[in-house]
Amino acid sequence: MAQSEGSRVRPLVFLSNNPISLIGVGLTTASALILVGFWVIDVFGHGGSANPYVGIIVDLCLPALFIFGLILIPIGILLRRRKLKAAGQLPSEYPKVELSNPVFREGLLFVVAATFINFVIVGTASYRGVAYMDTPNFCGQACHVMAPEFAAYQVFPHSHVACTECHIAPGIPGFIHAKLNGTKQLIQVIVGNYSRPIMPEGKVPQASATCVHCHNPGRYIGDKLMITTAYGDDENNPATKSLVLLHVGGRDLAGRLSGIHGAHMARIEYIATDNTNQTIPWVAKANDDGSTTEYVSSDAKQPARGEKRVMDCIDCHNRAAHSFDTPEKALNKAIQRGLVDASLPFVHKQGLALIKADYPSQEEADAKITSGLEDFYKTQHADVWSQKQSQIEQSAKALRAIYDQNVFPNMKLTWGTHPNNLGHNDYPGCFRCHDGSHNAKNGNSINNDCSVCHNLLATDEANPKQLADLGLQ
Ligand code: HEC
Ligand code: HEC
Ligand code: HEC
Ligand code: HEC
Ligand code: HEC
Repeated sequence: MAQSEGSRVRPLVFLSNNPISLIGVGLTTASALILVGFWVIDVFGHGGSANPYVGIIVDLCLPALFIFGLILIPIGILLRRRKLKAAGQLPSEYPKVELSNPVFREGLLFVVAATFINFVIVGTASYRGVAYMDTPNFCGQACHVMAPEFAAYQVFPHSHVACTECHIAPGIPGFIHAKLNGTKQLIQVIVGNYSRPIMPEGKVPQASATCVHCHNPGRYIGDKLMITTAYGDDENNPATKSLVLLHVGGRDLAGRLSGIHGAHMARIEYIATDNTNQTIPWVAKANDDGSTTEYVSSDAKQPARGEKRVMDCIDCHNRAAHSFDTPEKALNKAIQRGLVDASLPFVHKQGLALIKADYPSQEEADAKITSGLEDFYKTQHADVWSQKQSQIEQSAKALRAIYDQNVFPNMKLTWGTHPNNLGHNDYPGCFRCHDGSHNAKNGNSINNDCSVCHNLLATDEANPKQLADLGLQ
């Protein structure tokens, strides 16, 4: 023992007493302490961050510092050895490892100080990095490929809900899955081979792990009146109203299920054959008596194969946080809010054509939408141009905003890329199953009677009587 201590430990301790090695020891010790701290918080605490990109710090930066410190130690030793050898000062017998040795004490003091300083600096930097990565700003803005989702997210209603609340299932498996996914995505972004557009591809956790933390699935909502305004292509941009009374239902006080929410709270499973769940050839419903009814689409040529998914909130509210609009709906809303001025002749027709056109980039779209609208009034309605220039400019600005929130040519994301499943007029939505051709063996099909989902009180009427009855006109 004495022999090996003399022959191995003593020269190592002696030679590593140099600034490079000592800094290496300090760096390694400090990053190891911080790493262990993060692991402890991850495993035992609730303070751990669920953000996948936190892996950049905890799984990449800190281990890198740890290894960098380790590499510094032998480099310092070798350099010192070479220097002493060149100067002929390499001792034949290395001094004893003893605290009473002042040189050894100094070295130890240096290591303790370096560890402490590294601990404070690296620890603060990591902590701040982790805190920053937990903000929607980081997920949505620092990572430019998320720009479309961030833009759509800032629109009501979930703009105050952190990305991680819906994208990462709680618990260790969700955490590890997210970490791996995050690191993979980060590498894809650095290498530049991420998919354009980014599609959800079933990677969003089930609603039971996310939405239901904030929303009570049993809440009884009953009927909900939806009033929408649409504008026409004529010179005066004529407005019409639709009134739909949606039977949202839910679970009432007696525990009875009813309406749209209630109908799907019983267990419904389906198989989709595409990665956005738009084509659904097979559906099964668990009945109260324990039996199941299977519905098969008459369009399906062969029996459906694939993963079965239990229907939940996200199958209808898939765009709750990222509601990319249709050009028609976005423009109707902008006119209704007065952002696009309805007193400008043909502004609906022109505006729609301008936002629907193809442009190579948002910058080019912005320039062409503005010049397109201005030129239209300059050449076709000179009187309007001379009287309402500021309204025209303001309307062009609103059209640009609509485009910039919904179309991202650099991500190949355009109108209709992300279908919204809540409804059936713009995308298949409810009619993916309720199309009248999903049939059970007993001859029944999934209900597609208009009145089971809603009462159409008025469709595209100029002055619906019901609005007057409600005192809304
Ligand atoms: C309220 C829940 C919720 C929040 C908050 C949320 N998302 Fe999502 N996100 C979803 C759902 C649900 C989908 C799946 C959409 C689908 O299936 O059509 C999704 C899909 C996505 C996709 C895949 C592409 C797409 O548009 O379908 C990306 C990327 C994304 N979200 C990023 C983010 C970012 C970045 C944030 C924070 C700025 C965020 N999400 C916040 C629920 C949410
Ligand atoms: C962290 C909490 C939280 C989570 C998680 C969450 N929501 Fe919400 N959600 C809210 C709040 C708060 C509102 C109400 C916003 C308001 O009225 O200002 C809301 C509103 C809604 C609305 C009503 C929108 C409207 O137009 O009135 C729907 C639908 C909805 N959420 C669905 C979902 C779905 C689906 C998920 C899961 C993908 C989800 N939420 C996850 C907090 C959450
Ligand atoms: C079968 C489709 C479907 C499913 C599944 C579904 N919803 Fe809905 N939900 C609707 C429809 C349709 C509306 C009414 C339209 C609207 O509010 O935009 C609605 C309305 C809502 C609202 C707005 C209520 C209000 O007072 O304005 C919330 C919140 C909501 N749903 C949450 C949820 C949650 C949480 C789940 C899962 C537990 C869920 N929904 C499951 C179709 C569905
Ligand atoms: C994955 C398939 C699927 C989708 C998508 C779907 N449903 Fe259903 N829905 C069913 C099944 C299965 C039933 C039970 C069979 C039935 O009652 O016809 C059902 C039943 C209902 C019922 C009760 C019907 C009755 O006869 O009482 C309503 C209302 C309803 N759905 C509304 C909606 C709405 C609104 C949407 C879209 C927002 C929607 N569903 C989307 C599968 C689906
Ligand atoms: C399975 C349920 C379901 C069935 C069946 C159904 N609808 Fe709907 N419908 C909806 C939902 C949900 C919405 C609301 C969509 C939204 O929130 O934008 C809607 C909205 C509408 C609207 C208003 C569109 C708007 O944007 O103003 C019209 C019109 C309409 N439906 C017509 C019909 C007709 C006609 C039938 C019968 C052939 C029918 N629907 C059958 C669920 C259904």
